[in-house]
Amino acid sequence: MSDQKEFRTASGIELRSFYEQVYTPDSKPGEYPYTRGIYPEMYRTRLWTMRQYAGYGSAEETNARFKYLLSNGQTGLSVAFDLPTQMGYDSDHPLAAGEVGKVGVAISSLEDMETLFEGIPLDKVSTSMTINAPAAILLLMYEIVAEKQGVSPEQLSGTIQNDILKEYVARGTYIFPPEPSMRLITDTFAYCRQHLPKWNPISISGYHIREAGATAVQEVAFTLANAIAYCERALEAGLKIDDFAPRLSFFFVADSDFFEEVAKFRAARRVWAKIVKERFGAKNPRSMQLRFHCQTSGASLTAQQPLNNIVRVAYQAMSAILGGAQSLHTNAYDEALALPTAESARLALRTQQILAYETGVASVVDPLGGSYFVEHLTEEIENRVWSLLYEVENRGGAVRAIETGWMQAQIHESAYAKQLAMESQERVVVGVNKFQTDEEERVETLRVNEELEYKQKQRLKDLRNRRDTSQVQEALLAVKQVAASQDNLLPVIKKAVASYATVGEICDALRSVFGEYNPPY
Ligand code: 3HC
Repeated sequence: MSDQKEFRTASGIELRSFYEQVYTPDSKPGEYPYTRGIYPEMYRTRLWTMRQYAGYGSAEETNARFKYLLSNGQTGLSVAFDLPTQMGYDSDHPLAAGEVGKVGVAISSLEDMETLFEGIPLDKVSTSMTINAPAAILLLMYEIVAEKQGVSPEQLSGTIQNDILKEYVARGTYIFPPEPSMRLITDTFAYCRQHLPKWNPISISGYHIREAGATAVQEVAFTLANAIAYCERALEAGLKIDDFAPRLSFFFVADSDFFEEVAKFRAARRVWAKIVKERFGAKNPRSMQLRFHCQTSGASLTAQQPLNNIVRVAYQAMSAILGGAQSLHTNAYDEALALPTAESARLALRTQQILAYETGVASVVDPLGGSYFVEHLTEEIENRVWSLLYEVENRGGAVRAIETGWMQAQIHESAYAKQLAMESQERVVVGVNKFQTDEEERVETLRVNEELEYKQKQRLKDLRNRRDTSQVQEALLAVKQVAASQDNLLPVIKKAVASYATVGEICDALRSVFGEYNPPY
């Protein structure tokens, strides 16, 4: 028997023992405000993209892992970069020591990028790149690699994360202050619109906000508040809402509170559609359709009894699909211990394939639509998201709420409450604060080759000797000049990338004009 006295969702919404008030769904799938999904036929027409986040060590090793995943039926790529790359440092920078290739692949130059995608036809696969502050540089490297393969920019589909606001709030890989960072992002919007029409130039992410401890309601509200800030900035730069909104994309977590997660995705779509239509006056329905990638919760994985994670991931993934995700990453069970091995990465992918091909959940659109409970929760989350959005607005909008540290403080408060609930066992984590065991579960973990850093540095040294130094210097000077002007930065960054200037060198050129961000707290 349960000894639970109060029943609430993970974000604190009080639950009745059953629901009977009928909320008729507000629309059909594929109709505004898209509560029930953005397409009329959803997965019947096209399954979601199975996009496993992967990358470690050198470009060769990651290229092999990509090919392994594709040969096992993965349908999209997702690149994990190492921390130096994400922070705009080359592998041979002193601050990179010990971090090269650790949490992702080390990419310092176009040459590394060529190796990363060697033998992978970029007109056939869509690629996501989790890169933020230096996103424009990595995108342009990808464009050039594709051109070298004979694939034109118009054919390329994929996404760069490019969401700097949540880096200040929760993830930490920022380089420049907010103002020039926002400018780089809108420059990317404009460049993609002109040259890479099928590319999603941003993935506005609630994932990291939630993983830092936010509730489901805060995850949606802060993500949409950030999205509003990007829209306003792009409008100020002269773009039209219907020119860029159809290519905005989103990224949410699928955590463990099953029904709350399903309702969260439905509510997020509904709120966003209303914002884009009513606040920004969009006319194109595609502008109003919230498209999102989903990843199961890394923070919910436990190092204790790691095989339990397989079960957690499967339930979480199902909530993403019942919630209408466009693209999904399922975590590997060993990720609380290390980067996934080939075997655990394959099992994570198989979890999606079983969901897609064996459970039947993809056969009917929004199968939980009309459930008393799910419709009620969707309404409840929507209302709470609006309240929080008004609060952000009253604090001067997302950028201000971040600069003053308010958004971060809200998240910290929730994280603290969550931790207390765990310590008091109000929140049960199986194998951690209940049902512990002394039996050992042994799992083989992946070790990143320690020689990699040395080899990567050698390769870079070689490249620096081989390339045309005066061409590189000229290109970097042009980057500085355009950074100091109002012109779009991407064409000059592309020239620098093509001359084999490195990520670190291009970021240094930008640092010299933009400065670096130091958090005020
Ligand atoms: N009916 C009609 N058309 C359909 C359809 C349907 N049912 N389903 C899909 N389509 C169409 C789409 O409209 C699209 O056409 P378009 O190119 O003309 O727009 C095409 O088929 C491709 O479908 P999607 O756009 O739905 O799928 P994608 O996979 O290409 O894109 C996305 C999905 C969410 C929009 C995109 O932004 C994406 O892939 N994001 C992935 C982000 C990601 O992987 N992030 C990793 C983060 S990891 C991280 O942050 C690390 C850490 O710190 C944890």
